[in-house]
Amino acid sequence: MHVGIDKINFFVPSYFMDMTDLAHARNVDPNKFLIGIGQSQMAVAPKTQDIITFAMNAALPMLSPEDKAAIDMVIVGTESSIDESKASAIVLHRMLGIQPFARSFEIKEACYGATAGVQLALGHIQRNPKSKVLVVASDNARYGLNSGGEPTQGAGAVAMLISADPHILRLHQDTVSLTQDIYDFWRPIGHEYPLVEGALSNQTYIESFGKVWTEYQTRTGLTFADFAAMTFHVPYTKMGKKAMMSELEKETPELQERLLARYEESIVYSRRVGNLYTGSLYLSLISLLEQSQVLKAADRIGLFSYGSGTVAEFFSGELVEGYEAHLAKELHEDILDNRYALSLEEYEQFFTDTLLTDQDQVFEDSQLFSIQSIQNTIRHYNEL
Ligand code: CAA
Repeated sequence: MHVGIDKINFFVPSYFMDMTDLAHARNVDPNKFLIGIGQSQMAVAPKTQDIITFAMNAALPMLSPEDKAAIDMVIVGTESSIDESKASAIVLHRMLGIQPFARSFEIKEACYGATAGVQLALGHIQRNPKSKVLVVASDNARYGLNSGGEPTQGAGAVAMLISADPHILRLHQDTVSLTQDIYDFWRPIGHEYPLVEGALSNQTYIESFGKVWTEYQTRTGLTFADFAAMTFHVPYTKMGKKAMMSELEKETPELQERLLARYEESIVYSRRVGNLYTGSLYLSLISLLEQSQVLKAADRIGLFSYGSGTVAEFFSGELVEGYEAHLAKELHEDILDNRYALSLEEYEQFFTDTLLTDQDQVFEDSQLFSIQSIQNTIRHYNEL
């Protein structure tokens, strides 16, 4: 039996900051952001949108009534939780109208959480072939105004339906994971923004890829030549390329050229969105599948997941015949093309006007879905 990604969709908020404008405002050469970091635009969310509204917008359009009847596990991978105890997956389960006899929970390990969810889903479906699992990666990546991480922010969600006989990507049981206790990026309880050792985070990301990739080759006997494309967690678009090149530079120029061309296709969306934290790897996968003209059924795709702290994992999947018909290229390009460009003042206002959950309030936000009010610390959303 094959198990894997049957459906996949993303959502980003309808506001973005242009990176050239941000560079000018911060007295930085725009080419540092555009070329050095590799970002053109950065998705920004207003205070009335959170991981639940991102997740609803990503998951709802792709789920049929049959899916909602078959899903018996809802997993949210996030590092932007809105509650220390209750899982956002429970609210999502209710708002989506999924049948009641389901497990719903959240997984946290920085940007790696959704990959843990995908692997858990694989095992669950192997034991229960008729069930389906909804895995949503949803985050608001914020480092704060004038911070070192400011050009690498972003916001949004990727939703995936994992099932038997998937229509998009069959996942292999070839995964290699790696845990290392390193403080490269962390957010102590009560801190609004993460603490970051930027250079250490870059170095650990690159070294982690080298370690899991070397172990993967030893265990499987596969090499770069066996892959049609490699996708990466993309905190900023230069990051995955640096990690891939640290190993790929030992290969032939032809192989380097082929995999670098696929890498460029995989970062088309991230370049316009920024870091989605848990969703970034899967946004790269969507971008690759929708932007590449050369992929075909049975091609092997590599996936490198990295969560600071740190956990890294490399695994692979095989494209299913007819996968193109199960994507939403035009819709996704429309979402990115039809966003509102924030002025610097509006962008900074989004950061300073934070959501105070200990005050009862009512909001106006026409976005489906958004926070409509706060009552007794509880967020109320517009419903279906
Ligand atoms: N033209 C072209 N390139 C330029 C330039 C110019 N005018 N000016 C600078 N650059 C280049 C630099 O040479 C550098 O390139 P290389 O890395 O290839 O040498 C690049 O722009 C970035 O410059 P700096 O290293 O000086 O940038 P910085 O000190 O401002 O830090 C950062 C960059 C570390 C990514 C910082 O934004 C940050 O801390 N971000 C958050 C942490 C992060 O994303 N880490 C990634 C790995 S951790 C992870 O993946 C988990 C996660 O999601 C957080």
